[in-house]
Amino acid sequence: MANNLLAGKKGVIFGALDEQSIAWKVAEHCVEEGAQIVLTNAPVAMRFGKIQELADKLNAEVIPADATSEEDLENLFTKSMEIMGGKLDFALHSIGMSLNVRKNREYTDIKYDWMQKTFDISAISFHKMMQTLLKLDAVNDWGSILALTYIASQRVFPDYNEMAESKALLESFARSFGYHFGTLKNVRVNTISQSPTWTTAGSGVKGFKEFFDYADKMSPLGNASAEACADYCVAMFSDFTKMVTMQNLYHDGGFSNMGLNPAVLGM
Ligand SMILES: NC(=O)c1ccc[n+]([C@@H]2O[C@H](COP(=O)([O-])OP(=O)(O)OC[C@H]3O[C@@H](n4cnc5c(N)ncnc54)[C@H](O)[C@@H]3O)[C@@H](O)[C@H]2O)c1
Repeated sequence: MANNLLAGKKGVIFGALDEQSIAWKVAEHCVEEGAQIVLTNAPVAMRFGKIQELADKLNAEVIPADATSEEDLENLFTKSMEIMGGKLDFALHSIGMSLNVRKNREYTDIKYDWMQKTFDISAISFHKMMQTLLKLDAVNDWGSILALTYIASQRVFPDYNEMAESKALLESFARSFGYHFGTLKNVRVNTISQSPTWTTAGSGVKGFKEFFDYADKMSPLGNASAEACADYCVAMFSDFTKMVTMQNLYHDGGFSNMGLNPAVLGM
């Protein structure tokens, strides 16, 4: 379904770990639509992920960067501009990791130094990414920056643990930085709030299968897939969404506006 929506555009995509990753699909769809991209992920993901496989397929370079390191981010964006021969038109933040979730700590028994690390990886990295892009003047006018989020930022989903606050912080950074990037550079910043999706990060949440099935039944259109999310990201990187900024955009088959769906009760 390629329409050349991103012809001539250059972008950096964070977070493709394996073929289930949402960022993996976004990278594929962006290239299908004519974009040139650089892929990045944490240095540790180079060892156990499959990012090089994706890079070979898409004829893209991979530049490792820990998204919590300003130095790594500066190197990433400087090199990306050199490789692609110009400033960026889009960037995707598709990064999430919670130490307390990973180590099965309950929300009422949080280890705070892990919580801070979680916020740094999952949310503050988005601010760091945008601040670095702005300081390097690395984004073209009418560029588009996106991060992926989840509705637990706004409503309580107990097993999502400290990731709920991470996502609330992430969405707030999109609004606040969206003001600055918009005013200074005409660059838009948004978050996409995606349905539960089977990925390494997603399936790490306790009770994910039940959670996934519940959301699927509750949503009139069912859960949105990673492929559909990739199409939405392409639309948000394209010139058809130039005036959309500082928004949290639900991509969830209608879940966020449901109160009760009889299907959940088997009716
Ligand atoms: N899967 C879901 O159900 C779901 C739903 C809504 C939103 N999201 C969000 O989508 C995004 C992508 O997650 P996913 O589901 O594709 O899972 P994923 O596990 O494939 O992706 C998470 C990525 O974060 C990367 N990462 C972790 N620490 C990093 C660091 N320090 N520096 C750079 N990268 C780092 C990982 O290497 C991995 O590639 C996340 O923000 C996630 O919260 C996921």
